[in-house]
Amino acid sequence: MSKRKRVQVELGERSYPIEIGQGHLDALGPAVKRATGAKRAAVITVAPVGRRYASRVLRSLRDAGIAARRFEVPDGERSKSLRQAGALYDALLEAGFDRGSAILALGGGVVGDLAGFVAATLLRGVPFVQVPTSLLAMVDSSVGGKTGVNVKRGKNLVGAFHQPRLVWLDTAALATLPPRQLANGMAEVVKHAAIWDAALFERLEHEVEAMLDLDPSVVLPIVARNCEIKAEVVSRDEREAGVRMLLNFGHTLGHAAEALRGYRGLLHGEAVAMGMVYAAYRGESLGITPEGTAARIAALLVRIGLPTELPRFPRRAYLSAVGVDKKRRDQRIQFVALRKLGRAETVPLLPEEIVPPRTRFGG
Ligand SMILES: NC(=O)c1ccc[n+]([C@@H]2O[C@H](COP(=O)([O-])OP(=O)(O)OC[C@H]3O[C@@H](n4cnc5c(N)ncnc54)[C@H](O)[C@@H]3O)[C@@H](O)[C@H]2O)c1
Ligand SMILES: [Zn+2]
Repeated sequence: MSKRKRVQVELGERSYPIEIGQGHLDALGPAVKRATGAKRAAVITVAPVGRRYASRVLRSLRDAGIAARRFEVPDGERSKSLRQAGALYDALLEAGFDRGSAILALGGGVVGDLAGFVAATLLRGVPFVQVPTSLLAMVDSSVGGKTGVNVKRGKNLVGAFHQPRLVWLDTAALATLPPRQLANGMAEVVKHAAIWDAALFERLEHEVEAMLDLDPSVVLPIVARNCEIKAEVVSRDEREAGVRMLLNFGHTLGHAAEALRGYRGLLHGEAVAMGMVYAAYRGESLGITPEGTAARIAALLVRIGLPTELPRFPRRAYLSAVGVDKKRRDQRIQFVALRKLGRAETVPLLPEEIVPPRTRFGG
């Protein structure tokens, strides 16, 4: 066991710590006990994660006097469904789950969103603990309390805000994460740097390869800084009325690309990478973002192995994908642009202004 760091998410009486460490997974039991007071716990996971880490988590919980059981759902985005939530409600209640029980999510963002949604709704809400194992979950989805599932009409359209009592984050788990998934999470790391922290952006420019090699002296501080940024944004704006919208940098076009590709073959972070480069160039041509910013972001993303050009679809396809959840075509979208590296702002734009005539899409 090596260095540890605690980042506090300040939300009044719903405040909670993110306990960041390297190889401290075995020590989570007492912290879960303290944070939830639970006598019983369900550890929800997927096979690739569960087979590597669940037994250590269960043992630690049991040693702390918590009756813990493991519940596995199929790996992949399709598990974020009402059907899977329903199966978990039944299984948990059958196992004797009550309001004094806690739910732990052990896995990436899929497990976190699904288990969090079940925790938010089962018995009108039970204590929830996040144990993120993908980089994306560590730096983004495990912090902030957004939970949810997908329905036919789209992703994350059903959900609830339900803050965890504790986030237990062991960066050692990244050692088994597939490289493409690591790069996927790095997109959100670059996003945090671009909108919030120019020094972090420079740090990434210096040591992104060490980060990708999982050099422990680099991983822990970078993950911790990202948790701080997400925590700070969420503390200021839990429900996305203001500053939290800045986290959507790169997501307007990123989401459009994901939708146009039918959510196949493109990971979220890859779509966001393309969307960030687009947004930075768009910011430059609107005179908001200093020239050269987009090229700098693109260069960093290329070193990570992330794509920087949006897939080729007709402009009208992007127009309708960008405006998809807007009732009226003349409605403006809060487009996130960079005032400079490390500082973002929202600009209300029409879809036609976000994707102006003669925009070329490559890739
Ligand atoms: N709630 C939020 O605020 C929020 C924010 C961003 C994204 N999300 C959601 O997060 C989801 C994506 O999360 P994700 O990228 O973590 O995907 P994921 O949960 O599917 O994990 C990616 C893959 O990596 C595997 N994996 C995870 N950790 C591993 C480890 N340590 N070792 C080996 N394999 C491991 C998983 O089994 C999976 O196959 C999406 O559903 C997205 O909507 C939510
Ligand atoms: Zn994202």
